[in-house]
This record gives sequence, C-alpha cells and structure tokens, in this order.
Amino acid sequence: MATNRGIVYIKPGVVEVQDISYPKLALGDRKCHHGVILKVVATNICGSDQHMVRGRTTAPSGLILGHEITGTVIEKGRDVEFMDIGDLVSVPFNIACGRCRNCKEQQTGICENVNDARPGAAYGYVDMGGWIGGQSEYVMVPYADFNLLKIPNKDAAMEKIRDLTLLSDILPTGYHGAVTAGVKPGSTVYVAGAGPVGLACAASCHLLGAAVVIVGDMIPERLAQARSFGCETVDLRKDATLGQQIEQILGIPEVDCTVDCVGFEAKGHGANAEEQPATVLNDAMTVTRAGGGIGIPGLYVTGDPGAKTEAAKEGSLSVRFGLGWAKSHHFHTGQAPVMEYNRNLMQAIMHDKIKIADAVNVQVITLDEGPQGYADFDSGVAKKFVINPHGMVY
Ligand SMILES: NC(=O)c1ccc[n+]([C@@H]2O[C@H](COP(=O)([O-])OP(=O)(O)OC[C@H]3O[C@@H](n4cnc5c(N)ncnc54)[C@H](O)[C@@H]3O)[C@@H](O)[C@H]2O)c1
Ligand SMILES: [Zn+2]
Ligand SMILES: [Zn+2]
Repeated sequence: MATNRGIVYIKPGVVEVQDISYPKLALGDRKCHHGVILKVVATNICGSDQHMVRGRTTAPSGLILGHEITGTVIEKGRDVEFMDIGDLVSVPFNIACGRCRNCKEQQTGICENVNDARPGAAYGYVDMGGWIGGQSEYVMVPYADFNLLKIPNKDAAMEKIRDLTLLSDILPTGYHGAVTAGVKPGSTVYVAGAGPVGLACAASCHLLGAAVVIVGDMIPERLAQARSFGCETVDLRKDATLGQQIEQILGIPEVDCTVDCVGFEAKGHGANAEEQPATVLNDAMTVTRAGGGIGIPGLYVTGDPGAKTEAAKEGSLSVRFGLGWAKSHHFHTGQAPVMEYNRNLMQAIMHDKIKIADAVNVQVITLDEGPQGYADFDSGVAKKFVINPHGMVY
C-alpha cells in the first residue's frame, strides 16, 4: 500500500504533519480519469493559507493544505492524452475544467465545473471545491491536459526549481496585479504589502518596465527585502501620510497604478495600528491618479468569523467608493488566472529576465519543518517558504 504524508489544518494556530491517504483519480464519487498523480517536488506556504490558519475563515479541522504545487507525473488516468509519466509540471493553483464558458474565455479562476458552491476552485482551500491540498508527498491534479504546464528540459529546470516553484501562484498573481493595474514602461506604481505576493508584484512591475516601484508595509525586514532589488519603500508605521511619503519619492503625492497585495487582514497606519480591513482599498483610491488603475489580488472574503464588526463578519467593508468613482479609477479583483501568464513567466525565469526566488527570499524546508514554517511566516519574516517533501530541491 502506497503511503502519503501532508500538512493538516487542525485549529486556529495549529497545523500538523500527518499520515494521509494516497491520492486517487477521483474526488469522492466523481471519477477523474482526466487526472494525474504527482510526486510533489516543491510546494509553498502562502499568505492565503495563513487566513485559514489564523482562524479567519470557516476552514474545517482536518483540511489538507497546499495549493502551490510543482511535481512529476507518476500515474495518469485513461483520458490523459498529452502528459507523460516523468514530466515535470507546474500546477496552477486554480483548478479549471477547460470546457466551460469561463475557461474558454481564459478566466480559469472562476471555472464553473469544479466547485458545487460557487465558480472557482483551488487545492486544499476552504470553500474551493474540496480538492485535496498538495503540501504533501503526492497529490492528484484533475483535468491534467488542461491544467498542467509542462516544464521542458528537466535538468535545466531543476537548476532553477526555486524560481519555477513560484509559477504555481505568487509570480503570476503578482504579475496579474500589475497588469490589471495598467503597469507599463514608465509607470509609477504603489504596491501595498511586502509579503511574497507584494514582492512578486514589485519584481513583475520591473519586468514590465515601471519607472518607479514603491512598496509599502509596516515590517522593516520586508521593506529591506523590497529595497534589495531596487524598489523604493514607505514605512506605514510613520506619522507622515502615505501620500506625503510618496511625494518625498516622486515629487507628487500620486502614482499611476496601485496594487493591493494585502487583502482583508490589512492594518491601519501608524505605530501599533489595529486591523482595518478597508485601509488598502481606501489608500489605493487616495494615492492613484485620476484615470489610473487599481489591481486587487489581495484576498477579500464573503465571511470572516474573526472580524471586529458585524458588517465585516459578512465581508462588508467601509470603502470610500465615491472617491474612486470621482477619479474614474478602474478596479480589478479576484483570483489570478495563472494559466494566462505562467508559460511566459517560465520563459522569463529560464532566460534570466527575472530573479524571483531571490526577490521573495525563498527558504527551502522539509515537510516536517512545515509547521515551524507556518509559525515563522506568521511572525512576518521576509521569506517565502518552499517545502521540499522528497529532498529534490537544493
Ligand atoms: N488573487 C489571488 O489569486 C491571490 C493569490 C495568492 C495570494 N493572494 C492574497 O494576496 C495577499 C498577500 O499574500 P502574501 O502571501 O504576500 O501574504 P502576507 O500576509 O505574507 O503579506 C501581507 C503583507 O501586508 C502587510 N500589510 C498589512 N496591512 C498593510 C497595509 N495597510 N498596507 C501595506 N501593507 C500592509 C503585512 O505586514 C504583510 O507583510 C493575501 O491576501 C493572499 O490571500 C491572492
Ligand atoms: Zn498561494
Ligand atoms: Zn471550466
């Protein structure tokens, strides 16, 4: 009998490595002849996992975590045509059927056929269709021909696996945030949040030719990490407003584009500020020029059991929408459709156009070190933890 081990959410603040079932080509009664089983090469801890682990969602105890997966194909279902045993593949965190209207329109973050409750699904995530997570030794990927990105030249790829592992989520997500905010050559950009998504977004803005990329956070180590690859930074613990700090850098208090890489667990400004979930959305409208764009990859929820107000418990936030309307801002929300970008970003990695592992400071850990990785990430270290369940990543 084949065995498997994975990281399991137990209760707020507690995750454990446990023996879990070896994957089947099925989800409950639903057969997945279109699926493959992967031996997991690399699987990352994400800020999106933290919302669950902090008890800010309705994630059930026993949920197997992990939606950022790179692996090799070790078994394939009878309907898989174009993937072969031994292929090294990157798995978009969005699960998509490739057959529905949204998939046909490249909106793979809101596939209509992979989640009974709502459009859109992901591995190991609350309300995302019940697909089993991949912070484990082995995992099943459905609709493999459609979902998987085959990484050519395995030997060269393994040399860059610390970078390529970021194709499953944060690099395409950060890039999507930049693209949807309208970043182009010469843009000035404010990136809210210097976590892995914010840093990946900042590196993407450079790739897109932005003139100035300003990253804001309240954690000094994370701001230093942003400066390490050429970003300007603003420290939101300071008394000066965000606009004033931007003016010190640009000479004016506005930018062309803003990307929210924080989401609903945002803190207010100033020393020891409390959580204020609409802070970044209101900041974005304040500092983005009239006619500018706002990308919002940061996650917002329809239910937050840990929210401070009754309204916020239902996801209703105090957003000054009239300001954005008055400035003709355009907004873009939602899951990043990873598949739209991952092939091109893979090429950018392979040809040294972006050093994304260095930008986000990848730290490789074992599966057993996973729970400690969660604790360290939650403390705000400037690291992106990549779990290496089979010792294949160096
Ligand atoms: N849309 C998508 O497809 C997608 C994909 C991946 C992650 N996400 C979301 O992106 C967000 C960021 O992910 P991450 O892994 O970088 O998380 P993270 O928690 O490591 O980073 C968030 C950072 O925001 C900072 N922050 C808090 N309040 C702030 C404020 N008012 N202004 C500026 N910075 C502030 C925090 O100090 C922290 O460093 C999360 O909400 C995550 O769920 C979305
Ligand atoms: Zn993620
Ligand atoms: Zn679909």
